[in-house]
Amino acid sequence: QEYLQLQITGGSIRGIGPTVNPIKDSTSELAIMARTGSMTVQTRRTQKERALQAKERTGVSHESTTDANPDKQEKKPEDDTNRETILEQRRNLPAFAVKHDLITTIRDNQVTIIIGETGSGKTTQLTQYLYEEGFTNLNGVKQVIACTQPRRVAAMSVAKRVSEEMNCKLGQEVGFTIRFEDKTDPNKTIIKYMTEGILLREILVDPMLTNYSCIIIDEAHERSLNTDILLGLFRNLLMKRRDLKLIVTSATMNADKFTRFFGTAPQFTIPGRTYPVEVFFNKNTCSDYVEAAVKQILTVHLRNSSMSSGEYVNDGDILVFMTGQEDIEITCDLLREKLDLLENPPPLDIYPIYSTMPSDLQRKIFTKKNLRRRKVVVATNIAETSLTVDGIKYVIDCGLVKVKLYNPKLSMDTLQVVPISLANADQRSGRAGRVGPGITYRLYTERAIDSMYIQPIPEIQRTNLCNSMLLLKSLHIEDINRFPFLDSPPKDLLNCSLYDLWAIGALDNLGALTQLGKSMTKFPIEPTLAKLILLASRPEFHCSEEMITIVAMLSVPNIFSRPKERAKEADMARDKFVIAESDHLTLLNVYTQWNINMGKRINISAWCNKNFLQLKSLLRVKDIRKQLLLIMNSSKLPLLKSRSDDDIRKCLAASFYHQAAKLTKMNLSGNPEFVSLRHNYMKMYLHPTSSLLDSNLSTNFVIYHELVLTTKEYMNYITVVDPMWLLQFGYKFYTVADSYKDKINLPITKKNGRNDCTNTRFHNLKIIQGFRMTD
Ligand code: CDP
Ligand code: MG
Repeated sequence: QEYLQLQITGGSIRGIGPTVNPIKDSTSELAIMARTGSMTVQTRRTQKERALQAKERTGVSHESTTDANPDKQEKKPEDDTNRETILEQRRNLPAFAVKHDLITTIRDNQVTIIIGETGSGKTTQLTQYLYEEGFTNLNGVKQVIACTQPRRVAAMSVAKRVSEEMNCKLGQEVGFTIRFEDKTDPNKTIIKYMTEGILLREILVDPMLTNYSCIIIDEAHERSLNTDILLGLFRNLLMKRRDLKLIVTSATMNADKFTRFFGTAPQFTIPGRTYPVEVFFNKNTCSDYVEAAVKQILTVHLRNSSMSSGEYVNDGDILVFMTGQEDIEITCDLLREKLDLLENPPPLDIYPIYSTMPSDLQRKIFTKKNLRRRKVVVATNIAETSLTVDGIKYVIDCGLVKVKLYNPKLSMDTLQVVPISLANADQRSGRAGRVGPGITYRLYTERAIDSMYIQPIPEIQRTNLCNSMLLLKSLHIEDINRFPFLDSPPKDLLNCSLYDLWAIGALDNLGALTQLGKSMTKFPIEPTLAKLILLASRPEFHCSEEMITIVAMLSVPNIFSRPKERAKEADMARDKFVIAESDHLTLLNVYTQWNINMGKRINISAWCNKNFLQLKSLLRVKDIRKQLLLIMNSSKLPLLKSRSDDDIRKCLAASFYHQAAKLTKMNLSGNPEFVSLRHNYMKMYLHPTSSLLDSNLSTNFVIYHELVLTTKEYMNYITVVDPMWLLQFGYKFYTVADSYKDKINLPITKKNGRNDCTNTRFHNLKIIQGFRMTD
């Protein structure tokens, strides 16, 4: 083994792939706020956990509030507005006033860019106008109007709203499709909301999109990666399908870019109804934006509450922009704490909202409650344009946003808090002026504006492009450099993504799609996970039955519940499921146990509670598993039961050899230290929830599913593997010392009389794709 450790060195394209940096000036006030702010959030979280642990409340149901049973809540009708009021509301939207001209413009042009303030009716009304104009019926043949959304939540909530407006059941005439959830009826659905990713997948199956008459690319100003890919694809598609209408909607920012991209597309602006918004900046730099926000909320709330006939009057609601779940929850907690300290404060309803929150809870912010009570909505960027909360008069803006960012050091995407752009700041302020004159409080100084970009950096210039590149290759777009990008990704970022695809075997040495790569696109999951299933269905690995469970388990967050106040108990419960040396096998075991108990006549929800498992998540796994099985069937992949755990481990090694690490320091006091085999200078650690912690490992090598970057670089979902497997399956990726080549049984392919298992890897690809390697 000592010998082997020397052989697997890995480490290749060091530091490749700089992205466009979304931080314009790292010494600016906002950049510093982003750094110190996230630290205070961490500290507060730990403090809170400690306090809770100290209390050690027992006997409290540990179903977290965010996972309360949605069915129970949905029973009662959410809103008793009758049809008349719905119609009245529709007629009052700014889009309604220009409906005629809008439709004429769309009829006269193949592409129309529609610009309108948030809440003007773009998302909910356009589809219905097009339907009313007969776009869903082409000489008796049913046609579908599609509207894409960058976020799943928006697709679902908007579809629900429109089905209510059209007085039909969700999933019939109006439906939505998001990954692993299809609420449409192929015979009935005429208006379909979907995520952009779903439309891309549909293009793979039917490049001409024959079922559709109109496609609305909504929220295009957000410039998500998929928006950009879709728009690029449409440039060609529109020429082949002259009858297809493309509508691109955008908030006021960014709109000109789309017009230029499509040459002659007209811009149609829906006249807005906005009121003036007064903007106040902080006088001094703030060091803790959570505390500053809470202080500002309380000031606004207390200063503007007056009494009228014995009751408080609410003069307008408050919308607070934070960066993510963590600081949102802490803001809400701190706010509750501060309110508790006051004697008889005016009533204030607190609503967090972020995109991973269950949709039934999100919907709560739309329900019209007692108008006398003020509400404060603490939101992520989701409330900037894609969700409209009515009644907002005050906006509090922390000036930061969380974005996905490719980290060349880790060769992966990470989430990072960065300053917003000027366009975002204006958009956020605008949310205060929808119902009447409003006020925005910016938690940064006026000087901070100078260090902001005018527009945000589009995702395509800052994230990993693997999935998109695989998709384009599958659509026979061989030369990525000639793809019509709205904004081109940095060359190194493109190359880096192509390299990753080559490393997992999706591209060959010439940069063309391999059979394996082609098969990967059949699954709506990350390419490496698809590879797991594909390999597992081969007789050599023989474990597809188990592998689809593992993949489904990896696709769902929060299988285990770990309430802060009962963390110890939860950890003990989890320990009972542990299979030695593998988090993947542990996941499999959890599912198997649960499934066995599902079949018994016991109270499964109580069983889950006892074992600290989330029933809802497991049910979802079951559903995803079923869908993966359908894809396997249609691709004629056999369902094979593993003969031993080694089948599964070997298959994991064969799919994840590019994400492997070697134990370097057994640290008795805490977390053992690993080093990445790919970048051998990079230290990595076991995630605190890993079942490998506190156990002796039989080899020093592991593969991991993902890296998460919090206080350290943590590997998440880890399995110990035989280093021999890494060589056997990853021989192209790793450098094998010459002296060692004869000793292992490599599947050597002869090419031009030369062995192809050496470091010639990638050489051809480099030339073909114009790679620049730095090592
Ligand atoms: O897309 P845009 O921002 O232009 O507006 P929209 O989303 O179509 O919203 C039009 C109106 O529908 C707003 O007044 C929203 O409050 C309302 N709406 C709703 O009540 N429930 C939803 N799920 C979505 C919109
Ligand atoms: Mg919208």
